[in-house]
Amino acid sequence: MLTGKTYLITGIADEHSLAMYVAKKIKENGGQVICTGLGVSQFHDSLSDKAKSFLDQTFKDFQDSVHQELGTDTMTEILDVSLEASIQEFCNKIKSKNIKIDGFLHAIAMDKTIRNKVVKPLLDVTFKEFCDAMEVSAYSLISLTSHLFKNNLLNADASICSLSYIAASKVTFHPYRNISIAKAALERITVELADEMGRKNGTRVNCIRFSPYMGSKAGNATLNEKDVEFAHRKSPLGNALPEDLAFEVLNLLRPKGRTTGEIRHVDGGYNIMG
Ligand SMILES: NC(=O)c1ccc[n+]([C@@H]2O[C@H](COP(=O)([O-])OP(=O)(O)OC[C@H]3O[C@@H](n4cnc5c(N)ncnc54)[C@H](O)[C@@H]3O)[C@@H](O)[C@H]2O)c1
Repeated sequence: MLTGKTYLITGIADEHSLAMYVAKKIKENGGQVICTGLGVSQFHDSLSDKAKSFLDQTFKDFQDSVHQELGTDTMTEILDVSLEASIQEFCNKIKSKNIKIDGFLHAIAMDKTIRNKVVKPLLDVTFKEFCDAMEVSAYSLISLTSHLFKNNLLNADASICSLSYIAASKVTFHPYRNISIAKAALERITVELADEMGRKNGTRVNCIRFSPYMGSKAGNATLNEKDVEFAHRKSPLGNALPEDLAFEVLNLLRPKGRTTGEIRHVDGGYNIMG
């Protein structure tokens, strides 16, 4: 289905990341992937030794898991979406290899107002915390798309997919507050970009709201088991699994689709319940 197609996969932290399931599914269907992870780049100013060693370890974990799960020939690059120069550097790298991509998965989120599963009330969120979550978790969909498009790296029939959850529109079993607002922005950006990119480049832009999943680093740092169980019981089909998500992402990324601007649920039906 994806023979001759190449997709950029962002957001792999390790083998349990949702993005890893998507990357595997693309490869199983004959496509190629380029994977990006967080790491130290030349554009980071004045990193403390602690921050540097954290980022080095983050990149090592990412690269080791990509090589183990997807093969040692899989291209891995550093990409920090909070640094515009890092996005441009990534574009320069793939340009120098004459690669054009057929789409990408945006699986990036960050919110410093959730610590050890405790969520800061909205009334205590600072402007900086608000903007940081918004920049990394929402604006990055614009900046990544814009850089790839303006560097002529997005094939015309390309397809973009990002990941969200029900908290973008409803107060849920686990009140995420700050990041929920960033996810709402991510979904709205999806719709606006679908219009712009569809007309400019024939490119589709969609978003999937997924069930709570504790397997990943982000999921484990934020969710409680009781919340995941609550969602599982409430959903007619139970919580969706990462494989279900990967299947649906593949469906949206595949060539010649006509679906765009869609916010789709892969959540076992949780969203239909009152
Ligand atoms: N786990 C869940 O319950 C769940 C449910 C629905 C949607 N999602 C969404 O799925 C996506 C992937 O999350 P996951 O659960 O696989 O967790 P994960 O921890 O595996 O992935 C989050 C990724 O974001 C990356 N990231 C953070 N800041 C970045 C930056 N500045 N530049 C580049 N990358 C950065 C991290 O390196 C990490 O790879 C996120 O958007 C998340 O909100 C997760």
